[in-house]
Amino acid sequence: MKITVVGAGAVGATCADNIARRQLAEELVVLDIKEGFAEGKALDITQTCSLLGFDTRVTGVTNDYSKTANSDVVVITSGIPRKPGMTREELIGTNARIVENVCKSLLEHSPNAIIVVISNPMDTMTYLALKSTGLPKNRIIGMGGILDSARFKCYIQKELGCSQNDLHAVVIGGHGDTTMIPLTRLATVNGTPISNMLSEDKLKQIAADTMVGGATLTKLLGTSAWYAPGAAGAALVESIVRNQKKVFPCCVLLEGEYGQNDICMGVPVVIGSEGWEKIIDYKLNDDEQEAFNKSAEAVRSMNKVLDTLVQA
Ligand code: 2OP
Repeated sequence: MKITVVGAGAVGATCADNIARRQLAEELVVLDIKEGFAEGKALDITQTCSLLGFDTRVTGVTNDYSKTANSDVVVITSGIPRKPGMTREELIGTNARIVENVCKSLLEHSPNAIIVVISNPMDTMTYLALKSTGLPKNRIIGMGGILDSARFKCYIQKELGCSQNDLHAVVIGGHGDTTMIPLTRLATVNGTPISNMLSEDKLKQIAADTMVGGATLTKLLGTSAWYAPGAAGAALVESIVRNQKKVFPCCVLLEGEYGQNDICMGVPVVIGSEGWEKIIDYKLNDDEQEAFNKSAEAVRSMNKVLDTLVQA
């Protein structure tokens, strides 16, 4: 098994670190455009092998895609991150060109790879990766909902004082401050609905905090978060390489599912060695479906910006 992470910034390096520690691959390549940067990150991670007890071989390369050849899974984190006050959507112009070129270069050397997209605005970058490569839909997966769901669990835990690991709580829809949909109705602590334990106001507050979870961190840190995004990327990669068949909310192409077509958005999917294998139907109620449709409208209008970029 060989995995490549493109982008050795905070999210890419954290994702690579998690992949290495969990021994998800024999070989892990980290690639960055900044001279020597990925080499430095790879060497630093490698120097934790004997401390943490793993043997993954980690190599860093500057822009040399030949070293990524025959990767089974590639994770794309390239692009500029948000600054405080910026939305993920404001990154589109710069990141679209980067993501398109990265996909092309990767596939020249790893034509069979499964592509995980983390770059923002993630739903649109996933759609772009799919359209520009023409790969089968199951091999392009956007990572956003896993992260948003982890943040949702964190905020529920703060209210209930339970273990986050006893929580089932899922965020679907777009990976944007106003487009994501924390499904409070379906959230449970080991099967007991959280709506039985928390007031309507508390549930609304948890959902609101979840939706701006990324922005809250950007404000605190001065840039985008990395521990949870990197760990979420690695969890997705783990389900692929170990064929775990975990159900994760991921951004995938919809062809009629959840009432939408020709759009990549977050829905629960089974993740295994073929990439995403099946969409699970949560049977949304009317309010949830309305929120999903609104979210789709916003994602679709962001996708339309891609056409103007191609023409420019
Ligand atoms: C976040 O929400 C990086 O989009 C990512 O933190």
